[in-house]
Amino acid sequence: MTATCILEMDNIIKEFPGVKALSGVSFKVKKGEIHALVGENGAGKSTLMKVLSGVYPHGTYSGSIKVEGRVQSFQNTSDAEKAGISIIYQELSLASNLSIAENIFMGDEPTNHFLIDWDSMQYRANELLDRVGINIDSNVLVKHLGIGHQQMVEIAKALRTESKILVLDEPTSALSTSEVDVLMNLLVNLKEQGVTCIYISHKFDEIFRIADSVTILRDGQTIDTKSIDSLNETMLINLMVGRDLSQRYPKRQRSETKGEKVLELKNYSLFDYKESKERLHHINLSLHKGEILGIAGLMGAGRTELVSSLFGAYNGKSEGQIFIEGNEVKINSPKDAMKQGIGLITEDRKNLGIFPVLSIMENMVIANLDNIPGKVMVQESEENLLCDMFVDTLKIKIGSIEHKITSLSGGNQQKVIIGRWLMRKPKILILDEPTRGIDVGAKFEIYNIINRLVEHGVAVIVVSSELPEVMGICDRILVMRDGTITGEVMHEEATQEKIMSYAIGGSD
Ligand SMILES: Nc1ncnc2c1ncn2[C@@H]1O[C@H](COP(=O)(O)OP(=O)(O)OP(=O)(O)O)[C@@H](O)[C@H]1O
Ligand SMILES: [Mg+2]
Repeated sequence: MTATCILEMDNIIKEFPGVKALSGVSFKVKKGEIHALVGENGAGKSTLMKVLSGVYPHGTYSGSIKVEGRVQSFQNTSDAEKAGISIIYQELSLASNLSIAENIFMGDEPTNHFLIDWDSMQYRANELLDRVGINIDSNVLVKHLGIGHQQMVEIAKALRTESKILVLDEPTSALSTSEVDVLMNLLVNLKEQGVTCIYISHKFDEIFRIADSVTILRDGQTIDTKSIDSLNETMLINLMVGRDLSQRYPKRQRSETKGEKVLELKNYSLFDYKESKERLHHINLSLHKGEILGIAGLMGAGRTELVSSLFGAYNGKSEGQIFIEGNEVKINSPKDAMKQGIGLITEDRKNLGIFPVLSIMENMVIANLDNIPGKVMVQESEENLLCDMFVDTLKIKIGSIEHKITSLSGGNQQKVIIGRWLMRKPKILILDEPTRGIDVGAKFEIYNIINRLVEHGVAVIVVSSELPEVMGICDRILVMRDGTITGEVMHEEATQEKIMSYAIGGSD
């Protein structure tokens, strides 16, 4: 048994101030398999992998790590890399002002007579890009890449060293369907070449597609390790959440009559300065009080551009008209948008969402200061009370609201951002990929909260790439392709086929 294990982590305990992230986790991985690691937000998945990869050095945790039967005590990440362990972290960590090639070889640039050998670096970078299946020049600066391509560059970077164990922490949360396909095929390929892979994901279809076995963590403990063949989705969900969660989307009473119109776009177009081309063409849409409107479409269809320009956060010039409750308004900045009662929860936590140096509480109240009685001088006790309430409702797993937001697990950071906008009580709340990286149990809570908001008259726009999610929660779905709206589907008549045919422009 031991002979076939490439990795054995035994009784790992890791504590942070006020939080026991891992309380005795054991984790065994067989050589050459794709092993999925699953569990709810805050279960300890990323922490376990950071212990493995030397981010938390030997001595800051207890328990033992064996790689190919040999006990290892990594002092840092390069020790772990030397032992053949590469990890792609949950939050992208590229330097945006450097080129793709520079990012891939950062700290390990090929040299020729003590100088960086740019030609060889470029050549090897291009090779790696080829291997991950993207066709972009490695001289391009990372800041010009979309989030999907940045993720592929991270993978190329991890493949640079000869890894025996490749760890991917939620690698597909930002990828489009076709990029996910490329990645899945790549992992299966690597497996055939003998690479062992540890795969963290909240997406069950991926797990069932590529994993050989699954380990379930809950509250810092190992629940079980199972072969994928012995499981189905419901069993896996129940093991993760520790209760029976048979329903993925909460029921909601949909009213027959539409509420009053809160938002209307007439002939709305958007010109992108950077690319100097039109990204949105003559969009007409309306949104009603108490409605959940979904916006579906493939990556690049213009969904994020639409909602971010509505929020005044897009570097471009818009044409056409925006009406809020019947009055024409101009929105040139997020401040304008907030004044009109629009809130946006973005898909890109790191760049637009969280303030990494601030505490959980500060992150929650930051858009919110003028909403709390007492104004100017914010009453701390009031803030505390509200924060505690949302931490509670959203089931955010924290030590204390005074801790830095970066101490939270990825999914829990997302919940803090959601809390921020809920506190502001917007008229229109836009959620762009709201449940990306969020576990099944918490998704259910978030859907419940959205439902409660619309019951109170808020109008909600949800942009999501997860078709079952859009179909599960929205009253009406608009489908976008190439910067235009190509179709409208009502909740009752929504099918994946119908939405996809509008999204890819099939014959219908
Ligand atoms: N640097 C840190 N300081 C303090 N607490 C931390 C730190 N890193 C993680 N934690 C806590 O440890 C617990 C486990 O977090 P971890 O990031 O491992 O969860 P996860 O399973 O990866 O969740 P997710 O699915 O949301 O990414 C959480 O309660 C988290 O708040
Ligand atoms: Mg994580």
